Amino acid sequence: MTPDLFEEGARRVQQHAALEAARPHNTESGGRSASEGRIATPGEVDVTHGRILYLQDVSVSFDGFKAINKLSLDIAPGELRCIIGPNGAGKTTMMDIITGKTRPDEGTVFFGSTIDLLRHKEAEIAQLGIGRKFQKPTVFEQLTVFENLELALKTNKGVKSSMFFKLDSRQSDRLAEILVTIHLASSVGRLAGNLSHGQKQWLEIGMLLMQDPKLLLLDEPVAGMTDEETARTAELFLTLKGKHSLMVVEHDMSFIRTISEIVTVLCDGSVLAQGTLDQVQADERVIEVYLGR
Ligand SMILES: Nc1ncnc2c1ncn2[C@@H]1O[C@H](COP(=O)(O)OP(=O)(O)OP(=O)(O)O)[C@@H](O)[C@H]1O
Ligand SMILES: [Mg+2]
Repeated sequence: MTPDLFEEGARRVQQHAALEAARPHNTESGGRSASEGRIATPGEVDVTHGRILYLQDVSVSFDGFKAINKLSLDIAPGELRCIIGPNGAGKTTMMDIITGKTRPDEGTVFFGSTIDLLRHKEAEIAQLGIGRKFQKPTVFEQLTVFENLELALKTNKGVKSSMFFKLDSRQSDRLAEILVTIHLASSVGRLAGNLSHGQKQWLEIGMLLMQDPKLLLLDEPVAGMTDEETARTAELFLTLKGKHSLMVVEHDMSFIRTISEIVTVLCDGSVLAQGTLDQVQADERVIEVYLGR
C-alpha cells in the first residue's frame, strides 16, 4: 500500500468516526453501522465495495420445493445485467426476494454494502431506490401520459398533500427529460389507455424513473412488443445504463444480444453459468437445460 493510500485510509476512518458520533443510530441500514473505514451517508447507497446488489447463499422453499437454492450473485453500480434461464428457474422469485415481496428462508441480500434488504419491508425497499417493473403494464389508463408521470412522484403522500401537489421546476425538468428518454414526448397529452402495449411499458418505466431509482428490476420488459418497439426498448435501456443499475430478465435472445455485457443463467434456483451471451450459449450445461425442457 502506498503512503498516499495510508493517509487516505486514516482520513476516512477519522471522517467516519466523526460521522458516526454525529448521527442517530436509526439509519437506513436498519441500525447496522458500517464497519471501520467505510463512510455510510444516511440515504445513500454505499458502493465503495463496487457492488450495488449482493446476494449470498439465498434459498427459499415453497411447500418443500426449493425455488431458490443457494443463489449467489452481485451487480456493479451502473451495470446492465441480463438474467436468462428456462421457465421456473426462479428469476421472478429472485426479484420478489430483492424487493421484499418474498422472504428467503436463508441467505444474505444487501443493497450496497450497508443496507440489509432483509430488514426492510417492500414499501421501504422501493423508497430506498429499488424500482421494479412487472411484466404487465400497470399505468392509469384514464389519465394522460403527463398525469401518469406526475402521479409517480405523489406515491406515499397523504391525500391532502397529493391534492395540492405541484411539480417544482427541478421535477418539471426531470419529467420533460424522461418524456424524451421514453420516446413519449409527442404523446404527453394522450390518455395512457390509448397507447400501444410498448408505449405503456415505456410509460411505466418512465414512472419508475421519476423516482430516480438506483437499481431497476425489469421482468420480461419486451414480451408482447413489436420488433420496432423491442429495438427502441433496447436503445432506452442502453441510455439508462451507467446512470442506473439494471437487472433485466428476458427470454428474447436477440434483445439480450443487443443490450448485454454479462449474462447470468439461472437454473433450478441458482446460477448455472455467467459470461458474455456467446460464452453462455456455448456452455454445454446451458444447452442441455434449454434443450432438455
Ligand atoms: N408463491 C409461490 N408458491 C409456490 N410456488 C411458487 C411460488 N412462486 C414461485 N413458485 C415456484 O417457484 C419456481 C420458480 O418460479 P419463478 O416464477 O421464479 O420462475 P421464472 O424463472 O420467473 O420462470 P418464467 O421464465 O416462466 O417466468 C416455479 O416452479 C414456481 O412454480
Ligand atoms: Mg418469471
